[in-house]
Parts: sequence; C-alpha cells; structure tokens
Amino acid sequence: MRLRDKVTIVTGAASGIGRATALLFASEGARLVLNDIDSQGLETVLLQTGRDKTRAVAGNVAEEETARRLAHEAMSAFGRIDVLVNNAGVHFVRDITDMTVEEWDRLMDINLKSMFLCCKHVIPHMLRQKSGSIVNLASISSFVGQEMDGASTFAYNITKAGALQLTKSLATRYAADGIRINCVCPGNVETNIVKRTTAGEVAEFWRQAAHSEPMGRNAQPIEIANAILFLAADEASFVTGCPLVVDGGYLAR
Ligand SMILES: NC(=O)c1ccc[n+]([C@@H]2O[C@H](COP(=O)([O-])OP(=O)(O)OC[C@H]3O[C@@H](n4cnc5c(N)ncnc54)[C@H](O)[C@@H]3O)[C@@H](O)[C@H]2O)c1
Repeated sequence: MRLRDKVTIVTGAASGIGRATALLFASEGARLVLNDIDSQGLETVLLQTGRDKTRAVAGNVAEEETARRLAHEAMSAFGRIDVLVNNAGVHFVRDITDMTVEEWDRLMDINLKSMFLCCKHVIPHMLRQKSGSIVNLASISSFVGQEMDGASTFAYNITKAGALQLTKSLATRYAADGIRINCVCPGNVETNIVKRTTAGEVAEFWRQAAHSEPMGRNAQPIEIANAILFLAADEASFVTGCPLVVDGGYLAR
C-alpha cells in the first residue's frame, strides 16, 4: 500500500503503460481519476480497478477542457490531487520532407501540449497542499534520434525531448513548494502504440526491436509502471527533475 489514498490522475489509462499504471496504483491503495480518448477501453479498466475508488474522465487530453475536467473531478470526488501521471501519447513515423503541418500539430498537441495543460490545471492544487508528485512519460527518444520502418520519428522524438525539458524546468521551479516532477524514459515497451502506427508487421517489428536491446528483449508495461510507482510514491521524496531511464541498457551502449 505504497500509495494508500493518494489521489492520482493518469492520462491515457485505457492501454499499455497507462493501463498497467492504473492497475498497479489501484493495488497500492491509490484513488484514481483516469482519462483516455478511448471511452470504451477506459470503462474496461474501470471494471478492474473498482468503481468505488476510481473516476473516469473520457476525452482528448490535448484539449484544455479535458485537463480542467480532470482536475475538477479529482477535487470534487476526493478533495485533493497527490499524483499526476502524464502518460497519454501517440507515436508517428514520417520524414520531415513529407510531414504536413496538421500532422506536426497533432503530435505536438497530444504528446506535449497535453502535459502542459494537465500541469497547468493540477499544480495550483498541489501548491495549496504544499505537496505533489508529477511523472511525465518521456522516452529514450528524449536523448537520441531514432528511425522506424526506414523513416524518421523526428517529431515524436522532439515531443519526448520536450517532455524531458518540461520535467526539469518545472522541477526546479516548484522544488521549494513540495512538488516533485520527474519523468520515466522507457526503451521499447510492447504495447499498442506501434500497432497504431507501423505500416509493417507488428510481430516482426518487436522481434527487431528486441534484437537492438542489450538484454535481447523488450519491456512489458508493468516494468515501466513499477518505475512510475517509485517516482510517484514518498520513497522518492528527494528525487526531482530526474529522468529515470528504464531501457534494458539501450542508452548505455
Ligand atoms: N511503448 C513504447 O515503446 C514507449 C516507449 C517510450 C515512451 N512511451 C510513451 O509511453 C506513453 C504510453 O504509451 P503506450 O506505449 O502505453 O501506448 P498505448 O497506445 O498502448 O497507450 C496510449 C494511450 O493513450 C491514449 N491516447 C492517445 N491520444 C490521446 C488523447 N489525445 N487523449 C487522451 N488519451 C489519448 C490512447 O487511447 C491509449 O489508450 C506514451 O506517452 C508513449 O510515448 C512508450
């Protein structure tokens, strides 16, 4: 019960890392406010976490109204916000020469603007409480350029570099106010994110990704959720502004 009664918002909670985080946090005693654009998927997670300690706010977290509703729901249902996990995100593969302005804007909105909006609406409550913990989903792509299916993931990588800088900048700004802000930087995690974007064979993609890992395998969502749990919980009381790399040794080569 490392999160007993900690009121936690998780965005993108219907699938992958967000879903694993919601289930793990529920088992650690947290009270949850879960978001996803996939309302049906969100309902399924709600059945598993239990409705008594969980609320759902379906919607596009790249829109300010959704971020406002998330903070409002947490405050009206539970009276405080202890943890925010900025997890919702999409992957996108497109060379810069082929990318449209609409595609660029969509990626920046979902992956980065959503983090700005949720922080904007949650931090005032944490400031009043003089406590809080925010965990952003960055990536190994925050540090290195990557390609996929022979094309660039440059714009995705930029959103994840932005998530890292958002983490550091807000961490130093609010360190003296009792608010810790960290990010997790996963390597390859076997979720639906690739299924949603790759043009190629998904199983073959994961096989090749595993081959590029020093450990010879990809991560499972629970392995990332465990790192998020550490940063969210009081055990990490002196950790802020920290990119916690969970990549099976990928960046160490
Ligand atoms: N899977 C990986 O290899 C990997 C590696 C590094 C970082 N990440 C990051 O982890 C996070 C979670 O990704 P995942 O791998 O679990 O992917 P996933 O596709 O399994 O889950 C992402 C969830 O976000 C939701 N979502 C997408 N757009 C949304 C929006 N506008 N509003 C609300 N919800 C929205 C989706 O419906 C989905 O449920 C992302 O930020 C991703 O960039 C993933």
